[in-house]
Amino acid sequence: MPRPKVFVARRIPDEGLSAIAAACDVDVWPDRLPPPPDALRDRVRDCDGLVSLLTDRVDAALLDAAPRLKVVSNFAVGFNNVDVPACTQRGVCVGNTPGVLTDATADIAVTLLLNAARRIAESAADAKAGRWLTWEPLGWLGQDLVGRTLGIVGMGRIGFATAKRLHHGWGMKVIYTKRTPSAEAEQQLGARRVELDELLAQSDYVSVHADLNPTTKGLFGAAQFKQMKRTAVFVNTSRGPLVDQPALAEALRSGTIFAAGLDVTDPEPLPPEHELYALPNCVIAPHVASATIDTRNAMARLCANNLLAGVRGEPLPHWVNPDAAAARRK
Ligand code: DGY
Repeated sequence: MPRPKVFVARRIPDEGLSAIAAACDVDVWPDRLPPPPDALRDRVRDCDGLVSLLTDRVDAALLDAAPRLKVVSNFAVGFNNVDVPACTQRGVCVGNTPGVLTDATADIAVTLLLNAARRIAESAADAKAGRWLTWEPLGWLGQDLVGRTLGIVGMGRIGFATAKRLHHGWGMKVIYTKRTPSAEAEQQLGARRVELDELLAQSDYVSVHADLNPTTKGLFGAAQFKQMKRTAVFVNTSRGPLVDQPALAEALRSGTIFAAGLDVTDPEPLPPEHELYALPNCVIAPHVASATIDTRNAMARLCANNLLAGVRGEPLPHWVNPDAAAARRK
C-alpha cells in the first residue's frame, strides 16, 4: 500500500508536521511567502492531502487539477480561503482548527481594545520620537473601560471569550448580535441580544468576531461608523473584508469614532503606505491573534489529525463539510 502524498503549503510546527511525516510522503513549501497559485496547483497535482493556510486559495480550478485530493486541512479556524461547496461537490473533505485559538484570539482583541482606548501605540511612538515634553494634564487622554458597554458582533466561541474577559475584568455590560440567542452569554455574562443598529448606537466598544461570508463582507461602512458613538472604539480580529477600510479611515480621521484596533486588514499584508497606518488613532497588528507557541502547536496537532483522518477515509475530528461524506474520493 503506497503512502499517501501530502503537500504542506508552509512550515507548520513540528508537532503537526512530524505526525504527518510519520504516515505520509510530505512535500513542504519551504519559503516564507505562500506558493503562487500555479505553484500550488503543480505541487498538489498528484497529492492525496493538502495542508493549506488562510493565504492559499483552494478553488474549483485547484481541485480539478488534483483528482486524487481527498482532504484539505486548513491551518486556521476560518476557512474563507477554501471554496467549501466546490470541495463538497467533488467529495473533498475540509478540516479546520476551532477551539484551540479561542483564548489567544480573545487576548489579542482585548489587547487591541485597551491599546486603542488608551492610545498606547500613539503615545509610545510620541515618547520615542521626543514628543514627550512633560506630564501634561491634557496629554494623550483616552477612554475608560469600567462599566462601559461592549458590543460583540458575532457571539461565537471567540466573541464569548472576549466578552467574558471584559465583563468579569472591567464590569462591562455586554450586548451582542448572533443569528440565534447565546444562552451561555446571557446566563454567564448577563448579555442581551440586539439588532446591529442598536448595538452600534449603544456600544462604547464594538468588537467584531463574525465569519467572512457574502452576508458579512463590507458589513462596516460609512453608515455603520456614523451610527457609533464619537467616543467608540472599534476592534476587528475576524477578517479584514468585513470592513470598508476607506470608510473606517475617514471615520477615524474625522472623529466620527475615537479609535480602532485591527488584527486583520484587506489586503494582507496591508502595504506600509496605506492611509490607516498614518492615523494615530488606529493600531494595526499583522494578523497575530493565534500567534502563541502553545496555540500554534495545538493548531498543528488538530490540522494533522484532520489531514490523517482525511487521507485514511475516516471522519475528520473537525469537519467543515461532513456532507462531503457521501461522495468522498476513494
Ligand atoms: C484563523 O485561524 O482563522 C485565524 O485568523 C488565524 O490566526
